[in-house]
Amino acid sequence: MSRQSHPTSSFSFVALGVVTLLGVLATSASAADAEVTYLDDLKPLLSEHCTTCHRPAGLNLGGMVAPMPFTTYAEARPWARAMARMVESGDMPPWHASAEHRGQFRNERSLTDAEVETFVEWAKSGAARGDGDDSPIILASTSHDGWSIGEPDLVIVMPEPFLVGDDVEDLYVDIEVPVPEELANSDRWIQALEFKAGSSAVHHMIAYSLAPGGSKIDPGAMMGGIAPGTDADRFPEGYARLWEKGSSILFELHYHKEPGQGSAVEDQSMMAIKFADTPVRHRVMNDNISRYDFQIPPGAASHEVSAAYTFEKDVELISLSPHMHLRGSSAKYMATYPDGRSEMLLYVPRYDFNWQTSYFYDEPKRLPAGTRVEVVMEYDNSADNPANPDPSIAVTYGEPTTDEMMNGFLNFTNAAPDDFEMEGPLTDIDWTAFSSSGAP
Ligand code: HEC
Repeated sequence: MSRQSHPTSSFSFVALGVVTLLGVLATSASAADAEVTYLDDLKPLLSEHCTTCHRPAGLNLGGMVAPMPFTTYAEARPWARAMARMVESGDMPPWHASAEHRGQFRNERSLTDAEVETFVEWAKSGAARGDGDDSPIILASTSHDGWSIGEPDLVIVMPEPFLVGDDVEDLYVDIEVPVPEELANSDRWIQALEFKAGSSAVHHMIAYSLAPGGSKIDPGAMMGGIAPGTDADRFPEGYARLWEKGSSILFELHYHKEPGQGSAVEDQSMMAIKFADTPVRHRVMNDNISRYDFQIPPGAASHEVSAAYTFEKDVELISLSPHMHLRGSSAKYMATYPDGRSEMLLYVPRYDFNWQTSYFYDEPKRLPAGTRVEVVMEYDNSADNPANPDPSIAVTYGEPTTDEMMNGFLNFTNAAPDDFEMEGPLTDIDWTAFSSSGAP
């Protein structure tokens, strides 16, 4: 048979083409059964990795709420391509520890390669809904009035609203908060702490417990706080922060907003506490390995500042929180053990001021007595740093975000149970050996 010579050959060819096309359609139709859909594939991923922040406004967890909720198909669909882009680039979910730390921190936010691929496939294939009931994703904390620590035992609110006036751009205020009865008459162990900003003008907030005659810089005074991107402090069972009877409470607030007519807001921020309901064997202390004497030259693209401390007792690290401002570009905490071995405890290769993350160990990390922890922070004061407010000036320590900070915050505890003695301030800084900023 010779179709080529038949007058209908071209028709047959077309017909063959149609058959082939149908074949392709059939294949993609069967692939469609395994097609990535919102209900089958995306919803569980969004629920697990995204809706802690991508949720309706009004349930603000530590200032982390994202501008757009992803709790239904209708909400998620328009963002399909942006989601694919953000998860592929690693910008979402926000997590800045280097990949070598995978699995070390309990609050890690990361996706597996297969999960990233699911987002990408969903966007590419047209972001289908799938079959079934699109009930909104259930948000873990809605049952606790927006607190992620669960039902608080105590909520401490600023005694009255504070007016952040029209002319305010940056304002630091210390507000004394009356001590509630639950704390007035006894020592208490605090298992979890969470903060809620009372207005969008709160840039950061820190709560201190001050022993009589004490001050904010006393070791252990800082209870906790929020800055953009921080979530709640929750300590492992048996570990807690001590509230000392007779202490007073101070809220330190940094308000920041665009000044201007009608920009004033009233703020009444608050803090929630959960007390330990199991025996506590470890007192968690908050301290920091820091420098205040540095100077970053104008235009410097990579300027390092370091500080170190050697622990005299066996300790357990609970969490690490590097803090810099707009010029911060990377952060490291490195341990050198008494036997000479060293270990990178935390490396944040692309530090982002907008995300003040505390890295909480999954299991408290033991450091034997004599371990030296060195904190190295790097700054980019060049014009290539898009966050840099002014590359032409030398930058020193200061509270406004346009100045810099170098704080290696850490939560730790003495490893010997029931040894509640304070280690004291972390002050044995070796100023000379580890300084690149010409410290005394
Ligand atoms: C810890 C809080 C948090 C988590 C978890 C989080 N996001 Fe975000 N996301 C934000 C915030 C805040 C913004 C807005 C500011 C920004 O872009 O950094 C944002 C912005 C976005 C945007 C918009 C980017 C644009 O183009 O404007 C997308 C898309 C996005 N997130 C996707 C995701 C996805 C997908 C997940 C989960 C895999 C996720 N996010 C998890 C906080 C979060």
